[in-house]
Amino acid sequence: MMSHIGKEQPRVEGPLKVSGQARYTSDHRFPGMLYAVPVCSTIANGEIREIDTSSAAKMPGVQAILERANIGPLFRATANREFGADMVRLDEIRAPLEDDVIRYYGQYVALAVADTYEQAVAAAEAVRVAYRERAPNVAPQLAPETKHRVESERGDAASAFDAAQVQVDQTYGLPPETHNPIELHASVALWDGTNYTLYETSQGVVNHRNVLAQMLGVPRENVRVITKFLGSGFGGKLWPWTQSALAAAAARQLGRPVKLVVSRRMMFQTVGHRPRIEQRIRLGATREGKLTSLRQDWVNHASMLDDYRENCGEATPQMYSVPNLRITSALARRNVGSATSMRGPGAVPGLWATESALDELAWKLGIDPVQLRLSNEPQIDEGLQLPFSSRHLKECLATGAEKFGWSQRDPRVGAMQRDGLTLGWGMAGCSWQAARFPCAATVELRMDGTARVFCATQDIGTGSYTILAQLTAESLGLPLASVEVVLGDTRLPPGPLSGGSGATAAVIPAVLAAAAKAIDALLELGSRAPGLKLAGRRGSPLAYTEGRVHPSGEPPASGMAFAELLRRAGVDTVSGSGSSEGRGAFGTGKPEFSSHSFGAHFVEVTWQPEIARLRVSRVLSVIDAGRIVNPLTGRNQIEGAVVMGIGMALFEETSYEPRSGGPINANLADYIVAANADVPALEVHFLEYPDTRLNELGARGIGEIGLAGTAAAIANAVYHATGVRVRELPIRIEDLLT
Ligand code: MOS
Repeated sequence: MMSHIGKEQPRVEGPLKVSGQARYTSDHRFPGMLYAVPVCSTIANGEIREIDTSSAAKMPGVQAILERANIGPLFRATANREFGADMVRLDEIRAPLEDDVIRYYGQYVALAVADTYEQAVAAAEAVRVAYRERAPNVAPQLAPETKHRVESERGDAASAFDAAQVQVDQTYGLPPETHNPIELHASVALWDGTNYTLYETSQGVVNHRNVLAQMLGVPRENVRVITKFLGSGFGGKLWPWTQSALAAAAARQLGRPVKLVVSRRMMFQTVGHRPRIEQRIRLGATREGKLTSLRQDWVNHASMLDDYRENCGEATPQMYSVPNLRITSALARRNVGSATSMRGPGAVPGLWATESALDELAWKLGIDPVQLRLSNEPQIDEGLQLPFSSRHLKECLATGAEKFGWSQRDPRVGAMQRDGLTLGWGMAGCSWQAARFPCAATVELRMDGTARVFCATQDIGTGSYTILAQLTAESLGLPLASVEVVLGDTRLPPGPLSGGSGATAAVIPAVLAAAAKAIDALLELGSRAPGLKLAGRRGSPLAYTEGRVHPSGEPPASGMAFAELLRRAGVDTVSGSGSSEGRGAFGTGKPEFSSHSFGAHFVEVTWQPEIARLRVSRVLSVIDAGRIVNPLTGRNQIEGAVVMGIGMALFEETSYEPRSGGPINANLADYIVAANADVPALEVHFLEYPDTRLNELGARGIGEIGLAGTAAAIANAVYHATGVRVRELPIRIEDLLT
């Protein structure tokens, strides 16, 4: 029986956040600190002819206008995509200010550094840049310039599609979406002549350090990266962006601390986005609803230099049983900043398309969409040809249908009414890879009776502080309040990225191993210290139970608290370190199992054709994510993801203006995200089947799966209400007026 794992534990760092004591990156200030503001390109394609800094440099408080000539050396980093302490990964590969070529709107061309933020803003605006401009290409229609690359293939999908009794052949579009965490990207850089200390907004401090060391041309040991709190990231803060190198280089050139906060507008230009994606889905099936062929061909836009490929086929090969399958991808170059991972990269856009197409197939067949999915359940992962470590998609579908009341659904379009509103009911399945990053952690037992756990992972707002406290308290048998969690600093043992929903799965084995080692060290100390009178009989081994050391086989009360042992031995701290290898997509070597989380979303929309009002009125999600370490933060993750799913389905779209090439809705008034009024009460149910092939506790990640499938479930509900099939997100009122 576990006392901390599985408890609805409120966030341990919550009081620090609500009382303003939690210091986010941009909260840091240091004596003599300067403020840096980038000068952003106002064209999207061309070259810099000349930069005139003369008047800007003379403005009050201005310390420097840095450009290529005077910022000092900055280099490209070379990728090491193997996850772990040595990884080096970033999406925008070009070092900032590397050349005079402009490839996207908003690209940094210079940096104004001044005593105050306002002075730096004024100076940045006063820098005159002359360009040689070419017409940008930001067209949303993606004719691919690169050849389609085969991502997964089995059987003969083309012939099977042609021969199929029932076919669906449709293309589904997704606009560019921009991450909008509340906290802006920021860097505060200090340089002491040798060492850099970088306060960053990072979902992976270890990788951030490795990348920045290469960009600055110094050994890794000379760079320390700190992220104690993050105002969320959604994948936008997984990899370093160029402002970090600019801030560090400015600190080096000026010999003073430098703060650079990316503005909300720049957030739409220079720190990644989910790319525009078009996916053609072809489904072939028998009249009875057995899938015979599945083809998925997608194109995503990519920047001129970077090869970001949205892995839309992430879930497809294993989601349903189908003998013939072919998945291909291609890139289309555009004058946009580099695309990057956004919550559930690949699977989320992929499932938007495939779960919409499955719904279309269900309508064609006249088969209930839940039934269609149930009757195509695979026995193994037919893509990897591996058994699933744990898969309960059918139970998610059945439980969701039962809790939602799906049997009451009238399948005819527009047939369901309530209070004068037309109801639409739709559903979709979902999946997200479950993998484990390599991880190391250290646990300490201290003379004051507390324990500490150290790990260079970070809490991006998802609850990692709390999860690590629960894990440590559980493995040491201590109250939660006795555990201190130390994260977010490259001086700590190398921990996982906060990404891919893989941090929790990674820290579990490392923390359990570290705690066991710390207990070993304590018992060793106890057995070696003769004056402690712990051994009931001479030579009998010692045991550790819930904070007490005692002769094994005798009750804990016969021994002493570990704090007392340490005091009597004159030892302040015993510690143990543990590490664990990566597994699945984040590991090396061939996996033995296919590991994923699964789920199903059931959605009700209300539609009022008289006034063209569409509302999402109910969302019920059933999630199979293994053991849930903390149902409170877990549910919060799924709810947050569903809110994003409502935004994805109905609102979110980054619009590039065709002449300038710039994102024109680059602010939170014009880029619409779901607000409270758009979100109904959300119902989340977890199936609890520990997936012990992933880690000892059987916990899989839950950060991303809640977004997977949600937009498709909403679009499917909209079809049920209105008879309009929307295949291009976001769903607009205009779409429904046809
Ligand atoms: Mo997630 S897109 O791996 O932060």
